[in-house]
Amino acid sequence: ILRPPRPRPLTGKRVLITAGPTHEAIDPVRYIANRSSGKQGFAIAAAAQAAGADVTLVSGPVELRDPAGVTVIRVESARDMLHRVEAALPADVAIFAAAVADWRVANEGEQKLKKTSAGMPPLQLVENPDILATISKLKDKRPPLVIGFAAETEHLIDNAKAKIARKGCDWIVANDVSPALGVMGGDRNTVHLLTRDGDINIDNIKVDSWPVMTKEQVAAELVAKIAK
Ligand code: CTP
Ligand code: CA
Repeated sequence: ILRPPRPRPLTGKRVLITAGPTHEAIDPVRYIANRSSGKQGFAIAAAAQAAGADVTLVSGPVELRDPAGVTVIRVESARDMLHRVEAALPADVAIFAAAVADWRVANEGEQKLKKTSAGMPPLQLVENPDILATISKLKDKRPPLVIGFAAETEHLIDNAKAKIARKGCDWIVANDVSPALGVMGGDRNTVHLLTRDGDINIDNIKVDSWPVMTKEQVAAELVAKIAK
């Protein structure tokens, strides 16, 4: 049977994607992490590849197989992720789906921490670099389209609008992760796509609310918008 060739609207375009959680070491055997599964970022990578793009996926630790035809770079910490993202530029589109740990342990132990009579050792936390904000604010190498995610449990739209303005990205996929919708890491996603053209005025941000979809459907819709 002869089928018409699949349209490949992103042929020749370079797409850079982050996915998954990051792990921030406490000592050689322990780390701080979060519930991100990486599924949404991996689905976007597969959809962009299917649309003909040259895709690089920088992923934190996840239990997912490399999508076919995608260059996958596996990292552990937020700082590793930032360095590998910077090294992967230039790109036409950058999509930051990773759930980057906001803090890391400043006093990381070289040896496994031991229980002592003094009780639990205090963990000092310092803020991690913001990868999305760093890339959005680049002068020469800023990708023409920079897309962030916003995972929120309340005030979803207002928080996501503030994030576009604060980080300087073009679009935000606002992601409702309130426990009422099932635990984070499931197969479905409830998203709102926030877009702005040019100016960063919060009142000019458009909000498009999508029905509940599988993460593959969200990925396909997002890639179709990007192609347009
Ligand atoms: N992000 C990032 N680097 C960080 C923190 C976040 O690149 N150190 C990116 C995420 O990948 C996502 C966007 O920024 O695309 C928003 O992440 P989110 O955690 O929702 O926002 P924060 O700015 O960290 O604010 P908060 O967690 O306090 O809501
Ligand atoms: Ca955060």
